[in-house]
Amino acid sequence: MTATAVVTGASSGIGAATARGLAAEGYDVVLVARRADRIEALAEEITRSGHSARAQVLDVTDRDAVDAFAKALGPCDVLVNNAGGAIGTETVAEGDPGDWRRMYEVNVLGVLNMTQALLPELIAGGDGTVLVVSSVAGHGVYEGGGGYVAAKHGAHTLAATLRLELCGEPVRVLEVAPGMVKTEEFSLNRLRGDADRAEAVYEGVPDPLSAEDVADTIVWAVTRPPHVNIDLLVVRPRAQAAQHKIHRVKE
Ligand SMILES: NC(=O)c1ccc[n+]([C@@H]2O[C@H](COP(=O)([O-])OP(=O)(O)OC[C@H]3O[C@@H](n4cnc5c(N)ncnc54)[C@H](OP(=O)(O)O)[C@@H]3O)[C@@H](O)[C@H]2O)c1
Repeated sequence: MTATAVVTGASSGIGAATARGLAAEGYDVVLVARRADRIEALAEEITRSGHSARAQVLDVTDRDAVDAFAKALGPCDVLVNNAGGAIGTETVAEGDPGDWRRMYEVNVLGVLNMTQALLPELIAGGDGTVLVVSSVAGHGVYEGGGGYVAAKHGAHTLAATLRLELCGEPVRVLEVAPGMVKTEEFSLNRLRGDADRAEAVYEGVPDPLSAEDVADTIVWAVTRPPHVNIDLLVVRPRAQAAQHKIHRVKE
């Protein structure tokens, strides 16, 4: 039987690229996001290319909706918890608690909701995989990143704790922690729609990662044999040796 993979945040960036990649590997991919038009168009594109995908409009922070989705889904073999993002670049002194709350909701509680809801099917399938897309922000701190850094540390902690708790169950827990990835919307959302500031994030960086680069690592980790658990994979562009060490070429 075809294995089923649920990918959250599949309407853009890393999630969309991961959905394409897993579909090409033969998974029946369930595309989860809030924007129907985008996931429906992607499901159509994947289906047209001879692979299998379906769209599911879902807000991962809405627990009742997540539970209803899980109940209707049936067998599930892979869950890629990718939905997430950053809001703002304010310091801790100036950050808006509402922004912090929203980042915690999607980056941590969204992962918790989806994982709790799908875990029974992931276990029942006999070889389940939960993958969390965290960030290098989940493994270090930087000024102006407080709320996002706290949330991504939460996502990392969830993944690491779950791995311990599931030891002995037939479910792997993987974490992929990307560095700088130039996606269409991530920085634009973080900078509240300011396109110039969003573009400046990547200014002079010879080759930031693309969504496809990260999707490649996710698909690779998911498609290892079931007994191989890629606990944590940190992936950065060559130009970013650390959060504060970015090579930029001056024009
Ligand atoms: N880009 C980077 O530099 C970078 C670096 C490290 C880690 N990451 C992480 O990688 C993941 C993907 O990032 P990206 O760059 O691909 O960002 P993106 O293009 O902004 O994509 C974010 C995705 O999450 C979905 N989403 C947001 N809130 C949601 C919710 N409540 N329920 C369901 N879906 C929701 C969005 O879809 P809808 O709006 O349609 O719901 C969208 O598909 C995120 O977790 C991000 O934190 C990104």
